[in-house]
Amino acid sequence: MIEHKRIKGLSFDDILIPPVYSTIRSRSEPDTTTQVGPLTLKIPFISSPMDTVTESAMAIKLGELGGVGIIHRFMEPEAQAEQCQTVADAGRYVVPAIGVGESERQRLEFLMHKVDEIDMVSIDVANGHSILMEEMVGWVKERYPTLPIMAGNIATFHGYEFMIGLGVDAVRVGIGGGSICKTRIQTSVGIPTLSSVVDCARARHKFQYYNKNNPNMKFPSIVADGGIRYPSDVVKSIIGGADAVMCGGVFAGTDESPSELIYLNEVPHKKYRGMASASVQKDRRGGLKEGTCSEGVTTYIPYIGSLHSVLYGDDGFVGGLKSGMSYLNTRTIKELQEFDTYITITPASLNESHAYGTKK
Ligand code: IMP
Repeated sequence: MIEHKRIKGLSFDDILIPPVYSTIRSRSEPDTTTQVGPLTLKIPFISSPMDTVTESAMAIKLGELGGVGIIHRFMEPEAQAEQCQTVADAGRYVVPAIGVGESERQRLEFLMHKVDEIDMVSIDVANGHSILMEEMVGWVKERYPTLPIMAGNIATFHGYEFMIGLGVDAVRVGIGGGSICKTRIQTSVGIPTLSSVVDCARARHKFQYYNKNNPNMKFPSIVADGGIRYPSDVVKSIIGGADAVMCGGVFAGTDESPSELIYLNEVPHKKYRGMASASVQKDRRGGLKEGTCSEGVTTYIPYIGSLHSVLYGDDGFVGGLKSGMSYLNTRTIKELQEFDTYITITPASLNESHAYGTKK
């Protein structure tokens, strides 16, 4: 066995960012605007294409707040087209997810025919660094040459290089890091999301440098996907090189997620499940095929109120990001991406980081 070159797997909890002298006077100064493919987002947040996270209500509200929601594909094309049209009618970015293969080609054709405007399509498979992705992107580009593409998921330098070759506009980076994911346990495959982001950003940097005179080459935007729990994880993702983050669990407990409220011990909860979970397979195909396994779990997470409160409330993600940017004297997402110092920490340091006073 040879250790994978130059990657030391670091997770969000393994690092902290040292503060620097800051000339920023107010936390409202930093600008969180970012670019994901053709989309300009006022805040770098994208909601996952999962059936307990993003349908039209989430996409519209997140759009209104400055991010974008990706409409999941675990429904009939007719239903997905309706969801997309509702988002289009609300004047928000429309980004449906599709899979790979013949039926998903038909899904895209149907969506393109039925929905007034589609801003980008997200090709959504477990392993984006694959021949299936290559064939699907090739087909989409031939059929709809001007349609922007987000593709994923990938986790490595070579995965990113592959995506440059395919000419996609944005990539979802992270394998096995999702809060409802058991890919790493079932298969041994994965890389901590933060390390994946750093590795893909390194690939972007390198190929941008060597191709600076080639205006036709696209360098896909990097979306950190899987494992975001706190606002600090967003700051760390962007310092690692991400242009935006994708969240499932963080948004699943809000009013805007599609799942029903369920009371467990009289406490309101919402269902949240991995799209490769046995429960999804059961709903869609009557169960798992023999010899295959589920790579996701089903859980119930506490109901947390409105999406607005998650992003702008007391422990809000936007506030955390802006405050982090002001500690680090960075006024834009680009400046934050260029911040280059971090320290690795010990389990004792991590313990100190949390508000441990409440546990005494
Ligand atoms: P979270 O934000 O940590 O909850 O992770 C959400 C991400 O997990 C999604 O955006 C997907 O990339 C990924 N994901 C969704 N369903 C599954 C699954 O069943 N298995 C593995 N990963 C999943």
